[in-house]
Amino acid sequence: MESSGFILGIDTSCDDTSVAILDSATGRILANLVSSQIESHAPFGGVVPELASRHHTENLPLVYEKALSEAQVSQDQIKKIAVTNTPGLMGCLLVGVNFAKALAYRLELPLVAVNHLQGHLFSPFIESTPVFPFLGLVVSGGHTAFYDVRAFDDVSLIGQTVDDAAGEAYDKCAKMLSLGYPGGPVIDRLAGSGDEHAFKFSPVKVRMGESYLSFSGLKTAAYHHWLKAGEEKFNDQDVKNLCASFQKSIVGHLMQRAQFFLTSGKYRAFALSGGVAMNSELRKQVQNLCLKMQIECHLAKPQYTTDNAAMIAYAGLQQQPVSLDDVVVMASKKIQARKLFQEFKKSQ
Ligand code: KG4
Ligand code: ZN
Repeated sequence: MESSGFILGIDTSCDDTSVAILDSATGRILANLVSSQIESHAPFGGVVPELASRHHTENLPLVYEKALSEAQVSQDQIKKIAVTNTPGLMGCLLVGVNFAKALAYRLELPLVAVNHLQGHLFSPFIESTPVFPFLGLVVSGGHTAFYDVRAFDDVSLIGQTVDDAAGEAYDKCAKMLSLGYPGGPVIDRLAGSGDEHAFKFSPVKVRMGESYLSFSGLKTAAYHHWLKAGEEKFNDQDVKNLCASFQKSIVGHLMQRAQFFLTSGKYRAFALSGGVAMNSELRKQVQNLCLKMQIECHLAKPQYTTDNAAMIAYAGLQQQPVSLDDVVVMASKKIQARKLFQEFKKSQ
């Protein structure tokens, strides 16, 4: 951990413009502002990249000013800037990175480029101290991955989805049922008053092995249940029942994989993060699993689950600054998982 000073965190990777201020002397987050664009994207049933980057361009300077004033910190008191440079939407990342570079140049401050997933991965430990080694699960709208974490700079990816992310499956299922965007929170809420046994979902099998996950089949199964029943015959209770059954299968798949990794016995803790970590059923089941496995349970606090800059400031605190020229937007690595899967299919 660094000596005293304020770290400025910036995240514009997708559809949230977020700025945070972290006090490195105390480890406290003094401000974590998130300007959501959900209303603009909801009519389209998903994020429109061009619209998102335009909103970031307009909002980022305002959110920055507001974060400073909420934290009661002046610009001259910032000691370091941390900004997300990958993965994310190219145009969106460019807005945040260019803003951060300009600010770092003008204020003569060190700058660090943070991987958004590194931010999520360590977010359960914001305002506390990580317990190594831990098993990390990042489960969001763009990613679903398990990590073996031995130190801040010693992280291995040990499992990931071969198709949709869990949050993406939630969003697509909600779109089919005309429940709006984002789908996770609404399905989570409706599932609370539905019968999880009403619709049958087969357990997920991934040919590549138990390290991999897959969600597109569950999404398709939900679609078939809906088609089979007939759209017009699907009443409100049917929708709640389908939400509950779908949620049970998504959470069940995640828990089965978590248990698979935890049986190695090498982890002292399990850390859950990302937007889907907001899910009530998932939080409950992760806590139960940790009790059963007798390891520490660290769930990201609700305000640090969906995209936020506090997690970027926290990850940035641990990283060494690099020269401004080296802070560049990088293409997403998600494509690599798809490529891997295609190569595997070809080899069969
Ligand atoms: O981490 P995040 O804000 O953005 C990405 O990095 O992708 O995650 C957004 C995702 C969306 O897919 C949203 O539907 C999902 O998180 N989500 C939830 C819940 N709240 C948000 N999924 C399930 N249950 C929730 N309560
Ligand atoms: Zn995210």
